[in-house]
Amino acid sequence: MKHLLATDGLDPDQATAVLDTADELKKTLLGREVRKLPTLRGRTVITLFYENSTRTRVSFEIAGKWMSADVINVSSGSSSVGKGESLRDTALTLAAAGADCVIIRHPASGAAHRLSGWLAEAGTAVVNAGDGMHEHPTQALLDAATLRERLGTVKDRRIAIVGDVLHSRVARSNIHLLAALGAEVVLVAPPTLLPVGVESLPVTVSHELDAELPAADAVMMLRVQAERMHGAFFPSAREYSIAYGLNGKRLKMLPEHAVVLHPGPMLRGMEIASAVADSPSSAITEQVRNGVHVRMAVLYHLLAGEEEKA
Ligand code: CP
Repeated sequence: MKHLLATDGLDPDQATAVLDTADELKKTLLGREVRKLPTLRGRTVITLFYENSTRTRVSFEIAGKWMSADVINVSSGSSSVGKGESLRDTALTLAAAGADCVIIRHPASGAAHRLSGWLAEAGTAVVNAGDGMHEHPTQALLDAATLRERLGTVKDRRIAIVGDVLHSRVARSNIHLLAALGAEVVLVAPPTLLPVGVESLPVTVSHELDAELPAADAVMMLRVQAERMHGAFFPSAREYSIAYGLNGKRLKMLPEHAVVLHPGPMLRGMEIASAVADSPSSAITEQVRNGVHVRMAVLYHLLAGEEEKA
C-alpha cells in the first residue's frame, strides 16, 4: 500500500490485512504498562489539518508515537498556510523537511489525491484523514474493526447508516468498505439528505427509520453537518430529530445483539439521545479506542519495511 486515499476501490484483501494487523496490535498492547513498539523508529509522520478534529488527529498522533515514529502536527491556523501558502507548496515543504508520511484533513474533496500526486517524486505516503464530503477511509476501517469485534464478522450483516448521508465522508467511506467486505448496507435518510446518484451506490435506500430497526445488526448514526448546509436545513432540526433521531424507544426496536455506532462528534439530543449513546449497545467509545490500533496498522502497512512485514 503506497497511500490510503479512499475505500472506494480499496482491495478487500488489503482492507482485511489492515484490520487483522489492528487486531494483532491491540492484543499485543493490551494490559502493557509501556505502550511502545520500535516498528517505525526513525520515520517521520506529519499530520496536516486544515479542518478541526479531535479523534482523528489525536489518534494518529498516539498511533505514530506508540510505534516510535516522530510525529509532528501542523494546522492551518499555526503554519504558513495562514500567510497564504498554497497546499502544494506546503506539502513540498513538509516532504523536503523529511516527512515519510503526510496525513491530511482538508475541506476540499480530492485534496488528498492531489497531494499524493505532488509528493510522488519524494516518495512520501499520503493518508486521507477526511477530504470535504468525499471520503474518510480510516474512520470506515475503525468502524469495520468495531463491527468485527462486536458482531464477529461484517459479511452478511445488515448495517443501517442513518441521517445526513449527503454531507458525510464517513458514510461514503463506509458504504464502499462495508459493501466490499460483504455487508448489506441500507441508507436511512430524508430525500433532502441523500446524494445525487445514490442509486449507483451498493446500497438500498429507506426513508423510514422505524421500519429498518428490527432487521438491523448495526445502526451507524451520522452527525448532522449544519456547517455544510449554509443555513438551509430541511427538514427542520426538530422534524429531523423526531423522524431520524435514535432515542430510547427506538433502541428497544433493535435486535438485542445490535450495535450502535457514531463517528463523533455527537450532537446529543439531535441525532442520538444520551440514553442510547451511553447504553451497553453503544460502541462509540470502542470506536475511538479501535481508531488508535487501526491507524497504527495503516502506518505499519504504509511505512514498515519489507523485512519488518516478513
Ligand atoms: N470522526 C472524526 O473524524 O472525528 P474528528 O472530527 O474529531 O476527527
